[in-house]
Formats: sequence, C-alpha cells, structure tokens
Amino acid sequence: MPAVTTLRLRVFTDDDVDPAGRLLALRHAAHRRREPLRDPGCEVQAVAAAAVRAAWCRDGASGAVAVRGGETVGYLVGAPKADPVWGDNVWVDSAGHAVAPGAAEVARDLYGYAAQRWADEGRTAHYVLLPAGGDGGPAAGGADALVDAWFRLAFGLQHVHAVREPLPAAPAPRPSLVVRPAERADVPALGAIDVALPAHQARSPVLSGAAVPTVEEQTTDWEDTFGDPRFPTWVAQVPGPDGAPQVVGAAVGCALTESRTHEGLALLPDAGFLGFAAVLPGARGLGAGRALGEQVLAWSGEAGYACCVTDWRATNLLSSRAWPRLGFRDTFWRLHRTVGH
Ligand SMILES: CC(C)(COP(=O)(O)OP(=O)(O)OC[C@H]1O[C@@H](n2cnc3c(N)ncnc32)[C@H](O)[C@@H]1OP(=O)(O)O)[C@@H](O)C(=O)NCCC(=O)NCCS
Repeated sequence: MPAVTTLRLRVFTDDDVDPAGRLLALRHAAHRRREPLRDPGCEVQAVAAAAVRAAWCRDGASGAVAVRGGETVGYLVGAPKADPVWGDNVWVDSAGHAVAPGAAEVARDLYGYAAQRWADEGRTAHYVLLPAGGDGGPAAGGADALVDAWFRLAFGLQHVHAVREPLPAAPAPRPSLVVRPAERADVPALGAIDVALPAHQARSPVLSGAAVPTVEEQTTDWEDTFGDPRFPTWVAQVPGPDGAPQVVGAAVGCALTESRTHEGLALLPDAGFLGFAAVLPGARGLGAGRALGEQVLAWSGEAGYACCVTDWRATNLLSSRAWPRLGFRDTFWRLHRTVGH
C-alpha cells in the first residue's frame, strides 16, 4: 500500500473540472486579497469550475491532475493557439492551473507530466498565465512559491497584465503639450504612430516575431476604421520645428471585451482598456505617453468603467517603465519557455 501522502499524477478528464474549480476559486480568493479590483464572482466554486471547463473545452486541450490522499491538489490544462506568432505552442490560460495552498511544488510535477505530451506533439513554445506575485505563499529567498516553482521549470516573465482605478479627470499636461480627440486629418500621423509600436517591439530586447506593417498599410487601415465609436482615439501634439502643431503620439481606449489578450479570469468585468499607445521615437520620455495614458484613464471613468486594464511585454523597456509609473498594478504574469535547447 502506498502512503497516503504519495502524489499521484494522471491525465486531466471531464471528472476533474469540479475539483479543479475548487482549487481555482481558492487561488482566485488569494489573488483578490492582493488586488481587490479583481472579480469576486470567481471565488464561487461553480463560476471557477465554468472557467476551468472553458479552458478544458478548447481545441486540442490536454493536461494533468495531481492527487494526494484522495484529494486533488493541483491541475494543469493547456491548449494550442492558432496564431503563428506563438510558434508551435501550448498555452495554459488564466483558468488553466491551480494548486492547493502550500502545494506550489506540485506545479513542477504537473508540468513534468503534461509537457511530455506537448513536446511529443511538437509543441515547443510553452506559455502559462499566473497570478502576478503567484499565490503559493513565500518561498525561500523571498520569491513567491508558485512563481519560483515555474522559474525552476525554466520559465521567465514575458508579458504583464495590469489594472488600476480610472482617474476622475485627466491632469493638465505640461505647457506646449496638447492631448485632444483625433480628427480624420490625423489619419496619416496615426498610420505612422501605429507602426512605431511593432517596430519598437521587433527590436532588442523584445525581439518579437510579430510582423511590422508598413505606414501605408496602417494608414489605409485607419482610413477604413477611423471614427468607430468603440475605439475612442486621442493624439498628443507639440510644436514642430516651424512652430506648427505636430502629432507625436496617440492612444486608443475601448471596452476590455474588445481585447483577445484578456480571457477567462483575466477578463475583468466592467473594465475599460488602454488598448494602444505609442509616441514617435524622437518625442519619447517627455511626458506625451503619460498624458495620453491619463486621458484613457479619465475616459474609462467617464464611460462608467470600474477599472482600466492594460498589458505590456516585460522586455519592452519603455512601456514596462511607463505604465507602472501611471499607477497600473500587475495582475497576471505570462511566463514563457521554449524547449529543445
Ligand atoms: C510607452 C510610451 C508610450 C511611453 O510614452 P513616453 O512619452 O515615452 O512616456 P513619458 O515620457 O510620458 O513617461 C511616462 C512615465 O514613465 C517614466 N519613464 C519613461 N521612460 C523611462 C525610462 N526609460 N526609465 C524610467 N522611467 C521612464 C517617466 O519618468 C514617466 O513617469 P513620471 O511622469 O512619473 O516621471 C512610449 O515610450 C512608446 O511609444 N514606446 C514604444 C511603443 C510602446 O511601447 N507602446 C506601448 C505598448 S504597451
């Protein structure tokens, strides 16, 4: 007879959805104690179980369950995403993983069990979304135990989701900087500013593989879509060399439900979204990004949202410094590992 403390691992099945929901509800409650803007609904086991079921029902989903003494103490469910930018991938989304309190080390057993199949399927790019700061309690050395467990599986921080309260009003920007709603005449400038983000992220240290469109392509796109009320847009302008106003940056707000990046538990209810912001290279670091971000925060409040969400690449040296300065607090961390090397 094995001791009751023996950890047993097996494949995830339909019968595991409810026990997994119990663990996810506990994880979410711990997460919400750190970030009260999170949705209290997911602390209800049935709601959390529905989120697990949604993760489990994705095409190609597979995963693992850890059981000790008859109790489910952890689960891990991943599924591939079709977008080629992620490579031959498997994603563990916001509802795809939880461990019992104090059982963070089990995450390593779960991954060890599940990832064999993923590697055998040729899926070499692995992504996992964890509550920022994790929920496993403190680990040796001060790091969070769950994040620490994934760090010891060769995962590193790729992407950050964050939230903050809306602003009651946008503070006045520095003199000579104007933030105003975009007009159709701004479309050529919007096309150029749109390219500034992927162009920046294609370079080191982000080194994203996402395609960098041309200014012409993005200008045409803005011509076709300009004025869509779902995506209010603002521009920042400063005096150009000839003294005439020159548009140097732009930001777009929208409902968080418009974003494909925020799914499952990462999709906060009643949230606005800072969906895009960029400043042309020569005008960065001078306050335009702050003024644009604050404009979207004020719009979120005017539009009646309870909070405003954004996200950024951890390796983007500009946004990863600018958005926390505007008061955004980390909610989820996307960790990433490429296997085979
Ligand atoms: C991110 C971006 C929009 C910020 O705009 P910006 O005009 O450069 O930023 P600001 O000058 O308004 O600075 C905003 C805050 O970040 C801080 N900051 C900016 N650059 C920084 C740096 N290199 N190091 C430390 N802090 C920095 C500023 O001090 C400021 O905080 P403060 O007002 O409390 O002092 C801009 O840098 C950009 O377009 N980057 C490339 C595209 C991009 O990454 N877009 C965002 C995608 S998520």
